[in-house]
Amino acid sequence: MSDQIYSPSNAFSEKALVSSMNDYRNLYNNSIKYPEAFWAEVADRITWTKKWDNVRDFDFVKGQIKWYEGGKLNVSYNCLDRHVEDGHGNQTALIWEGNNPEEDETYTFNELLHEVQKFANVLKGLGVEKGDRVCMYMQMIPQLPVAMLACARIGAVHSIVFGAFSAESLRDRINDSSCKILITQDTGVRGTKLNIPMKSNADKAVAETPSIQHVVVVQRTGESVDMTEGRDTWWHESMASADAVCKPVEMDAEDPLFILYTSGSTGQPKGVLHTTGGYLVYTSYTHEKIFDYKEGDIYWCTADIGWITGHSYIVYGPLANRATTVMFEGVPNFPDYGRFWDVVDKHKINQFYTAPTALRALMKEGNDHVTSRDLSSLRLLGSVGEPIKEPEWKWYHEIIGKGTCPIVDTWWQTETGGIMLTPLPGATPLKPGSATFPYFGIEPVLLTEEGQEIDGNNVAGLLAIKTSWPGQMRTIYGDHDRFIQTYFAMYPGYYFTGDGARRDKDGYYWITGRVDDVLNVSGHRIGTAEVEGSIGKAIGVAEAAVVGFQHVIKGQGIYAYVTLMTGVDESDDIKASILASVTKEIGPHSKPDVIQFTPALPKTRSGKIMRRILRKIAENELDSMGDISTLADPSIVQKLIKTRPAI
Ligand code: WT7
Repeated sequence: MSDQIYSPSNAFSEKALVSSMNDYRNLYNNSIKYPEAFWAEVADRITWTKKWDNVRDFDFVKGQIKWYEGGKLNVSYNCLDRHVEDGHGNQTALIWEGNNPEEDETYTFNELLHEVQKFANVLKGLGVEKGDRVCMYMQMIPQLPVAMLACARIGAVHSIVFGAFSAESLRDRINDSSCKILITQDTGVRGTKLNIPMKSNADKAVAETPSIQHVVVVQRTGESVDMTEGRDTWWHESMASADAVCKPVEMDAEDPLFILYTSGSTGQPKGVLHTTGGYLVYTSYTHEKIFDYKEGDIYWCTADIGWITGHSYIVYGPLANRATTVMFEGVPNFPDYGRFWDVVDKHKINQFYTAPTALRALMKEGNDHVTSRDLSSLRLLGSVGEPIKEPEWKWYHEIIGKGTCPIVDTWWQTETGGIMLTPLPGATPLKPGSATFPYFGIEPVLLTEEGQEIDGNNVAGLLAIKTSWPGQMRTIYGDHDRFIQTYFAMYPGYYFTGDGARRDKDGYYWITGRVDDVLNVSGHRIGTAEVEGSIGKAIGVAEAAVVGFQHVIKGQGIYAYVTLMTGVDESDDIKASILASVTKEIGPHSKPDVIQFTPALPKTRSGKIMRRILRKIAENELDSMGDISTLADPSIVQKLIKTRPAI
């Protein structure tokens, strides 16, 4: 890691919302010293119908977290109506860029509000009431944010399931939170795939989800799909007859806004629950300051709305700030590897926020796709999802940003709701690969394995957060005990992130990656236990263990060790059926990159799989295997090394 420092240019700093490290430090120190006064002032950026009684109340032992208790507001009102009332109804709120470069749509705040009110009435007509869960299984089409905001308007809780998940995953998520309605689309388009079977997957899922009463189907491609009479309705048909006025429901600050499933190291995915007031305050505040968002800017986050990045930084944060936000249906390499840059030029993007995995994939195609585009509208670049390493950081900075755009490397999680560690673009001197410093109000600490805080600089440990912030998740839906066990029990008094980090000599934070059995594959969070379970369902498989390994494009790849049942021979057919099983149980994004068959897994005498050894072999770090004497059968290690496939 180089020690080269990139300071913001004077030109950028002069106009920035936070323009010096002094300003950052003063405000930061104030936020930590007087958190209640600080967060009370920040919350004024949102319109409340009733002010809160109590700014914050949290107990990290019991996992009880409350912000702005007693306050009342509506998220859709804050994202739409208030901008219209302020005279900005004709400003563009949403730009939708289709998979096909010739397709795009724009929605003003007036238009978006109109759609949202109508769809809120459609939901009401289908019997949706405050507190009901509504599942969405969609690609990146404008009806997705419309449906989210419509839920928020009437107090329904949305649960979005990323469009690449399989019917089985969708079914399990619907059942976990007993959703009443499912919203989907006929088929989807992404890159060269022009017929992604959304409705037929939804049908398979809904066959085993007793709670679903109705399915609303957006006509995206016009492909013919089965419609079940009495259960299924077309979006456009119900919208045509829907009433145009729907008053926003007054919500408590702590009423749930959405559930979003994410993978952990064990068991089924967790339904991360976010609530209304704190989440909106936090996403809006971070979006403005970190992206230095100013009136008139066109802001594009390339994430999928099926993940938290899209929830917080395509929809809620930007719209609360009256930003013009862009959503993209396609992929970076269709029609060619210059697509992102075409979109930047076409819509004159000022802030561009993407993931390192996309940068690596584009970087390897050379610079011609970039230099043939203009890109002069870009003012700021962002990165999220995994550590951004020096080569892609420099490429991003020099080739995309022409050396003039600050890069904000933002560290956060589904659980944190919003960005936690980040540079402030007009203030922070950057070190490539470091997420630099905590955002206002955030108190990170490094802990030893025993839970002792590690003071000073030039140290490394487990990353934890000492006090609550408004965007923090409130519980795991339906399993508060698991919430406590997962995030608070191991290190009492702290929120434990699951990441390791280093604080360098200048106090900069460097995320070193997950310390649990969670992988980060192309910015997607994947639980090894889930992948193992889905491999185990393939016929002939006795046992599987999954670890990560360094992958040039994906960041981490998935390496699976598989033991077959006695009498079953290793074959390409078995490999294919393993991949098919993972695709069916979870989705194609969780397919292993490498499958190694082995007669046995390295286990201790008590039967525990020694993953440390499996990781070493996957990484081809064969000289540093460490102590293997506690294995029940140490000879298995040599066998594994001998049969390791070349990667
Ligand atoms: C995990 C959270 C909310 C962001 C999208 C992913 C890793 C995220 C960074 C970064 C290094 C990062 C962490 C974290 N991660 N951003 N800037 N630098 N690592 O959300 O699916 O909940 O995954 O992504 O390991 O724990 P997620």
